[in-house]
Amino acid sequence: MKSAGGRLLAGLELDRAAAQPLHQQLYAQLRTQILTGSMPSGTRLPSTRTLVTELGVSRITVVSAFEQLTAEGFLRSRAGDGTYVDTLWSDAAPQRPMSRPPLSERGAATSSRGTDLFSEAPHAWAPAETESFVASQVASSAFPAATWKRLLGRHAGRTDPLAIGYSDPHGHRPLREAIADYVNDVRGLGCTADQVIVTSGAQQAFNVLAVLLLDAGDPVVVEDPGHISGRLAFQSQGCPLRGVPVDGEGAAVPDDSDDAAPARLACLTPARQHPLGIAMSPARRAEWIAWAQRNGSWIVEDDCDSELRYRGKLFPTLFGLDLSRQVITVGSFSKVLAPSIRLGYCVLPEDLVKPFASASSVIGRPPATVLQMALTDFLSEGHLHAHLRRTRRLYAARQDALLEAIDHQLGHRIEAAPVDAGLHVMGWLREPVDDIEVARGLAAGGVYTYPLGEYRLTRQLPPALLIGFAGTAEEHMPRAVGRMAAAWDRWELATAVS
Ligand SMILES: Cc1ncc(COP(=O)(O)O)c(C=O)c1O
Repeated sequence: MKSAGGRLLAGLELDRAAAQPLHQQLYAQLRTQILTGSMPSGTRLPSTRTLVTELGVSRITVVSAFEQLTAEGFLRSRAGDGTYVDTLWSDAAPQRPMSRPPLSERGAATSSRGTDLFSEAPHAWAPAETESFVASQVASSAFPAATWKRLLGRHAGRTDPLAIGYSDPHGHRPLREAIADYVNDVRGLGCTADQVIVTSGAQQAFNVLAVLLLDAGDPVVVEDPGHISGRLAFQSQGCPLRGVPVDGEGAAVPDDSDDAAPARLACLTPARQHPLGIAMSPARRAEWIAWAQRNGSWIVEDDCDSELRYRGKLFPTLFGLDLSRQVITVGSFSKVLAPSIRLGYCVLPEDLVKPFASASSVIGRPPATVLQMALTDFLSEGHLHAHLRRTRRLYAARQDALLEAIDHQLGHRIEAAPVDAGLHVMGWLREPVDDIEVARGLAAGGVYTYPLGEYRLTRQLPPALLIGFAGTAEEHMPRAVGRMAAAWDRWELATAVS
């Protein structure tokens, strides 16, 4: 009969300072020795008394660990003859830590494509208000916290089946109705509540659409430069991207005379091209609808922040212009309210609603019902409209303050023009330097912006930074831009020296 004796004891190391209780440490270490084959089946363990003495622990510690291992089939006691390693686990092939397969090709590609925004907690790369230039940052101080708390509280204590059970895969019905009213009012979509599905933000909508509408290898048209959310979802589905340039009328329509097979889907930001801020002209909208019809393609209309408009009128959505039911609109509450609540929606042609809801449930089930209920009241009681009115005024003032501060302190480095909508201006660099390097240099100095380079596919564009204005209070703007100017000087000095 083998005895674990000294070898077992030498392999045990208990840490008295660790948060994990000693009996759990002992249990875990003995289990590892059995699973890795260090203690094969039939090995006799030292007596409880020996372990107590050698390890300097209490009897209850050893007994607890042994009892758990026995209950899980790792150990077996023979009356009057001690404790042995059972055959149940130890006769299986010993487990080596690295015998598992690698990530799938698609998994590796998907998980490595995103920027820090997709892989790191924001505090690692972006400071909070009141001095942030991150383009997706909203004014957290303007968040209607008291109202939101009240509405959440109204539903958080409910115990009826609607509040507690699995929720409707299409989304909470009253929220679908409130969203339909909202998008018909603000964006003239002309949809019914039946066509609205509630999602966990736009990102989930893009992923579900990628699964639902695309096979690996199907070409997808994206704007170049363009927003990364949709692009990443379509790439993850194994679809090659075809970038189209953006001119003064919005994204250019692909040339049909190309020999290449037509793209299966185009993802566009017609209301306000992201990141350049151009509104697609009515003529270009008509061309895109004609393109979709000619080629039998889908158009995904990413309409995630067009409500934040400071001047000028919005053109109608592609969805509202499309009679052939090939356009799908995706919207989000991330910028009009807060990205943390993870609520968005997808407006679909009727025949896509059920397949979308089913696919969406397979991928991740709908957002938390209590959030959906609170948002329903937030919309139907008029709080969103009031919040939009307030934030439009606030952001317009912050934009003016940013442009003025850039003019005074950074005019020699960047040129920035006012935007009609959205949360950022484009800061075009006056020198032909790599914008990704500049953004990294500024980040090293604690100043965070997005470089245009991260939105670019292949097209060569002048270097630029997306500079968000919503996250910096008007009165802090000169100081914040001063910090950017100083970080820039430091980075330039450091790169000149190295
Ligand atoms: C154009 C655009 N698309 C997509 C998104 C992503 O939205 P969400 O946070 O709902 O995933 C955003 C962010 O607000 C956006 O501005």
